[in-house]
Amino acid sequence: MSRGAVIVTGASRGIGEAIARDLAAAGWPLVLVARNREKLDALAAELGGPERCLACPGDIGSWDDAQRVAAVTQETFGTIDGLVNNAGITRDGLLVRMSPEQWQAPLDVNLNGTFYFTRAVGAIMMRQRQGRIVNITSVIGLTGNAGQANYAASKAGIIGLTKSVAKELGGRGVTCNALAPGYIATDMTADLPEKVRHDMLERIPLKRFGEPRDIAGVVRFLLSPEAAYITGQVLVVDGGMIG
Ligand code: NAI
Repeated sequence: MSRGAVIVTGASRGIGEAIARDLAAAGWPLVLVARNREKLDALAAELGGPERCLACPGDIGSWDDAQRVAAVTQETFGTIDGLVNNAGITRDGLLVRMSPEQWQAPLDVNLNGTFYFTRAVGAIMMRQRQGRIVNITSVIGLTGNAGQANYAASKAGIIGLTKSVAKELGGRGVTCNALAPGYIATDMTADLPEKVRHDMLERIPLKRFGEPRDIAGVVRFLLSPEAAYITGQVLVVDGGMIG
């Protein structure tokens, strides 16, 4: 079976980089998106060069960049089999001290970015009558969290978007699911105070923080033939943390 490409956003580090490495090892042609051109070029070269893995620097919070990435992917690889909306940011702070700009930033990147890419790529997948969309949300989008009202709102929004897209595009053979990681050891979580990390570990039945590869394997599954009948779901991958 010849494969179309999978677009992975936020692929320059952390969970996105692990997803890219895992999917490349599984034979998927890839298009990698992030703002850091140097890191992206180096990773794309390592994962097979322009024939197998294309670096496409861009800002996911930009409608124009989403359109450009979708067009370049289609021109280069013909078919787009998958879209992994992974890029995301946090701007933590207590609600009563949160500025409108601080509120807006995660919504612009996490929620709008997921919409822009889903809109651009989803239209192509509908015409192809096949495609898989995987949106990386967070357990925080399900539970909420003190100090993360902006991030939680953006991630809960992604869940609503996912379920709606699943309903709209299902008839055209396109699935859309969300994956909700718990605590994963990456740059995003590296700066949390020791006490917060300790308390969190206490609440994880599997007694370890997640690794980016724990998420990558589930993304690969959601892109596989075995996941063909799964859509509109939120898969929680958190070591049992939220129960
Ligand atoms: P990270 O901070 O290590 O990496 C984020 C990636 O997104 C980077 O490649 C960065 O360049 C990219 N990015 C950020 N803003 C961008 C923009 N405007 N345009 C293009 N690329 C942009 O974060 P991590 O931990 O790898 O997180 C990946 C995803 O997983 C995020 O959506 C995050 O919210 C989610 N997540 C992470 C958890 C964790 O514990 N690390 C837990 C739950 C969800």
